[in-house]
Amino acid sequence: MKKVIKLVLMVLLVVLVIMQFIRPEKNQGGYESVATFESETKPSEAVAGILKANCYDCHSNQTQYPWYAEVAPVSYFLKDHVDEGKEHFNVSAWQSYSVKKKDHKLEELIEEVEEGEMPLDSYTWIHGNISDDERDLLIQWAQLVRMSYKNELKVSAK
Ligand code: HEC
Repeated sequence: MKKVIKLVLMVLLVVLVIMQFIRPEKNQGGYESVATFESETKPSEAVAGILKANCYDCHSNQTQYPWYAEVAPVSYFLKDHVDEGKEHFNVSAWQSYSVKKKDHKLEELIEEVEEGEMPLDSYTWIHGNISDDERDLLIQWAQLVRMSYKNELKVSAK
């Protein structure tokens, strides 16, 4: 029995070591595309800070990786979250969204933040969560931006 356990542990160790050589591609497109998003949606300095510290890692083309992101299988999990997050909402792709889609994404943002769904739990365990005040700031900003998109939609419907 002891021998079997030893063998299993050895195999696991070898697999872990081999995994370290498979490095998922990193999300490091830079913050320039984020600047475009911000010049359109005009977050206050406080809101921009909240977004950068809590959201852009999974919702822009630039992730700030912690050291353990280098270690497989953590690196795989992080890549999964970033890929999925960007697929749903990517501020770096903001210019490719229609006004309707932008408005809808901000509607989702308000919902997710109100319900405490974002940032993802697995992220807040490590990075800490945003405070209620920060939540309110994000929601107020998103509501304001939505109003300007709504106006744009009204004008273009005429
Ligand atoms: C660790 C990665 C991660 C972080 C950090 C994160 N998100 Fe997300 N986000 C995701 C993933 C994955 C999804 C898609 C799955 C889901 O909705 O749960 C998502 C979905 C969303 C959606 C829904 C888009 C849609 O079309 O339904 C919005 C909006 C959103 N996030 C906003 C935010 C905001 C705002 C923050 C910061 C306060 C944030 N996220 C932080 C990973 C993340």
